[in-house]
Amino acid sequence: MAGKKILLIDSDVASRNFVARALQQAQHIVLHASSGKEGLIFAWRDRPDAIIIEPVLADLKGEELAVKFRQDPRTANIPLIALSNDTTILRRKQCLDAGFSEYIVKSGQAVAILIGLLNRLFGMGPSITDKQGGILIVFLSSKGGVGTSSLCANIAMNMLVSQPEAKAVVVDMVLPIGSIASIVGYSEEQNLVTISDLDPQETSPDYFKENLAVPKDWRFHLLAGSPDPETGNHLKSANIGDIINKLRASFDYVIIDLGRSLSKISLPIIESADLITLVLSSEISTITLTKTTLAYLIQKGIKQSSIYSILNRAVGLEGMSKPEAEKELGLEIKTALPYMGGSFSFANNQHAPVTLKFPNDTASMVLREAAKQIIEQARKTRSS
Ligand SMILES: Nc1ncnc2c1ncn2[C@@H]1O[C@H](COP(=O)(O)OP(=O)(O)OP(=O)(O)O)[C@@H](O)[C@H]1O
Ligand SMILES: [Mg+2]
Repeated sequence: MAGKKILLIDSDVASRNFVARALQQAQHIVLHASSGKEGLIFAWRDRPDAIIIEPVLADLKGEELAVKFRQDPRTANIPLIALSNDTTILRRKQCLDAGFSEYIVKSGQAVAILIGLLNRLFGMGPSITDKQGGILIVFLSSKGGVGTSSLCANIAMNMLVSQPEAKAVVVDMVLPIGSIASIVGYSEEQNLVTISDLDPQETSPDYFKENLAVPKDWRFHLLAGSPDPETGNHLKSANIGDIINKLRASFDYVIIDLGRSLSKISLPIIESADLITLVLSSEISTITLTKTTLAYLIQKGIKQSSIYSILNRAVGLEGMSKPEAEKELGLEIKTALPYMGGSFSFANNQHAPVTLKFPNDTASMVLREAAKQIIEQARKTRSS
């Protein structure tokens, strides 16, 4: 989406230039005014989409300015944002009473807050729709406990076995609590929630490559999920798009565990993914739910060719066989991973990839083959 015209009224040149630079980086067009009077003239003449005002000006007070803007039909409905050095509650109240829409205190976070606010005002946001950069693969299921996280970690690891020169990152986006950290034995502080809290202006694509840990034996970098539900509640979802864009700029593969989530946060990610790995089990209830999920994805414009489905724990006494499940879903099942008994959870509990613990098990062979096929299919959908 094209940027907006923003009028910036601030008598302090350095502060004005600093904010203007950030707005320009966010694709906005910036008009500068160094006094209240100049601000009034420019606003009435140029009709900006939003006006940002430092309430402490050389001539007028920001509050007086807000009243004048609100009284004039040309500016009555333009969002007015105070970006102020004054931290007092009184000043905030006076500004909001005078007609400001928002009051942001100048601090290290101010510019990021301002950009986020403008994005929300204009319905903009970092779009994750561009088919550039690293290949985006999501892991999705329609029911919990079918093995999505275990398969995500193990397949990602095997993708790197088959392509050792590639760089991959696994992102655990399962909320309110992720499980990949415990599967791979990661216990550091950094996770999706702490990363989402960073000022987007302060993280570059390289930041992620340099700062995300590579858990022992797993080969990929990990952006761990929320360690507990309370932390999960603090996720700054507005920054997720930016994080994923930056990951795609510095990794060959961005592999995301979405669990069962078809939410406002996950849907744009699913829609921009090169490949959706759909994990299901043979239980009838899971197949029924998967059918609903599939219909929803197709209705959202996702092509069957970008779905890679895995039937997990395929050998069971109950539930559907692979051909029955395929018939019911109207979808080819690409991989059937056999039930490994306690071995899979044993490997998980040891924080080890299944293919390292049990290299000769049929399941390990299937996992290695699935990893190769996923790379191949994701590349194919990317180029088509
Ligand atoms: N093929 C398999 N054979 C045996 N056990 C398996 C197999 N696949 C997964 N498991 C086991 O199933 C359990 C659940 O796996 P996992 O946590 O990966 O599922 P999930 O779908 O991510 O669950 P959640 O809904 O909690 O996110 C784990 O103990 C795992 O070891
Ligand atoms: Mg999981």
